[in-house]
Amino acid sequence: MKKTLIVANWKSNKTKSEARNWILEVSRQKFPDSFEVIIFPPFTLLDFLDAFIKANNLPFKLGAQDLSPFESGAYTGEISALQIKEFADYVLIGHSERRTNFSESLELVRKKTERAIAQGLIPIICISDIKQTEGLDQNEIIFAYEPLGSIGTGNPEGPSSVDKIGERIKGGSDRKVIYGGSVDFSNIKNYTSQENISGVLVGLQSLEAESFIKLINNVI
Ligand code: PGA
Repeated sequence: MKKTLIVANWKSNKTKSEARNWILEVSRQKFPDSFEVIIFPPFTLLDFLDAFIKANNLPFKLGAQDLSPFESGAYTGEISALQIKEFADYVLIGHSERRTNFSESLELVRKKTERAIAQGLIPIICISDIKQTEGLDQNEIIFAYEPLGSIGTGNPEGPSSVDKIGERIKGGSDRKVIYGGSVDFSNIKNYTSQENISGVLVGLQSLEAESFIKLINNVI
């Protein structure tokens, strides 16, 4: 079945007790099987959420917000793909906040992507320009198209323009492309209904359980 991806990017937010409240509230909802809800918490919450999801048999997947470009070893402060794989199926790579605030280059994004794929993680690579797909042609990659002016601004790009970009990124392949940037309950369906868009990446509106539930209920 073709699933609609709903990606919740918590960024550098949430303590353990906040995460517990969120998952307790969101898990009371019944989401359709046609959705793949993927939560991207900070690293510190992956273990807790993984245990909670498994213990309660919840239909959520987990992803990490970044990974090391190296294998495990003497790289202080880094988290390797192997370590992430214990808890998560997905990993976000090259979010514009990382490209901007941490000077992540195309080369670094490529290295991280290789590490992710080598460990069987599914990379979701964030791009703001189709040029950033260069050299990233592995089939496993999901691209998240996130125009810079739309992230956290309340100013999303129009759905038909996003669909056209999605078509170009796919270039006739089965590759999945999702959209991110100011997605909320009132506009989510305009994106998920586009032919070349397989889902959405949600930042701000994923942080409160109430707004996240409202958003998902608007796709149904
Ligand atoms: P936003 O963030 O939904 O708050 O615009 C999206 C993102 O940064 O991935």
